[in-house]
Amino acid sequence: MTQTIIVVGAGHAGGQAVATLRQKGFDGRIIMIGDEPYVPYERPPLSKAVLAGEMELERTFLKKAAWYPEKQIDFRPNTLVTSFDRRAKTVTTSHGENLAYDKLLLATGTRVRKLQAPGAKLENIFYLRAIDDTLAIQKQMKPGAKVVIVGGGYIGLEVAAVAVKTGCEVTVLEGLERVMSRVVAPEVSEFYDKVHTDAGVVIKTGMAVTGFEGHGKVERVLCADDSSYPADLVVIGVGVLPNVELAAEGDLAVDNGIVVDEYCQTSDDNIWAAGDCTNHPNSLLGRRLRLESVQNAVDQAKTAANAMCGELKEYAEIPWFWSDQYDLKLQIVGLSEPGDEVVIRGNPADRKFSAIYLRHGQFVAINAINMIKDFMAAKKLIAEGKHLDPVKAAEAEVALKDM
Ligand code: APR
Repeated sequence: MTQTIIVVGAGHAGGQAVATLRQKGFDGRIIMIGDEPYVPYERPPLSKAVLAGEMELERTFLKKAAWYPEKQIDFRPNTLVTSFDRRAKTVTTSHGENLAYDKLLLATGTRVRKLQAPGAKLENIFYLRAIDDTLAIQKQMKPGAKVVIVGGGYIGLEVAAVAVKTGCEVTVLEGLERVMSRVVAPEVSEFYDKVHTDAGVVIKTGMAVTGFEGHGKVERVLCADDSSYPADLVVIGVGVLPNVELAAEGDLAVDNGIVVDEYCQTSDDNIWAAGDCTNHPNSLLGRRLRLESVQNAVDQAKTAANAMCGELKEYAEIPWFWSDQYDLKLQIVGLSEPGDEVVIRGNPADRKFSAIYLRHGQFVAINAINMIKDFMAAKKLIAEGKHLDPVKAAEAEVALKDM
């Protein structure tokens, strides 16, 4: 009998999973259900080249729209899965349909964390996660516009770079004492703070936003220290939350993410999960974690699709991430922790350097800024658990791959 696989979520993980299933020769029925109007697309360019108007929307699509019918993939856009029944093996959609599955993949991703403050619902206050968010921000981001950004993380700083290049007056309000503190060392935060400041962005750290004021549209952002910032538009990037409610209501194990094993299988034999929404084990890191990363979405989607086809290949990858701001490509490999020894290779003043993280001498992570070779070498060395001498590691003229 023909098997049916239903994929819930048409983001990067969902899109990759259906592609891998067909590549593997799965010739049963595939239904992919997503709440957005678009075919699966890459999100990273949305806060970079797409926002800057330098990249057409269609170029973010993982596959052209015509690919899905060609491959007999029944793609249902603008549709939410509202529940699933593990015993009956059915999912229910927002259009009231009940669809039967043999195997189910949850690729539900994350959603933006909303700021709860008075006035937060005024017009021209945006978050950035989906294509429609970028299009809405783009409309307002005209030269001369006052843009206030809440959150100095990936989204906040990438939007700041585009906005200031567009000719906007940009202020970033970061809650903690330094920008990007979740992912980079203090030396790297300091570097990015200076780069943005030199480009004309006003960066304020240690800021607690208490509310927004305006008549219909936002006009001002208020902070706890009684300062206020005039705004034509506000972009908030204060992190994301995993979409686990559906899984939890379906009685699957959930713990800061849908709990899966190394093959992306959930606590149900017929249900898998992949991407930002999973809490998964990683034997290379020796622990469970939840990751917000394209690499993880792609690799886990492949692992899950393989497993659904009966091929068990363990997911164990060193995480990597990137951010583009101005002429700077930041590439991060591995997960650093407070207490790691930080070694700087190269000179930040040259806009080309790396921060290497050593944990008891072991190379565990890198922030490479315009250092592609370091990034490539680090991927391999970190996976191998290589130990480095901190004095040698700082010698930028010696290739990392030769250490
Ligand atoms: N006020 C100001 N800043 C805040 C507040 C707040 N109330 N709450 C959090 N922040 C700051 C954090 O200190 C952090 O610097 O917002 C920043 C959020 O940065 P990220 O965690 O990188 O999240 P974000 O920029 O929203 O990106 C979300 O999108 O780029 C992808 O997958 C990537 O996980 C990332 C996701």
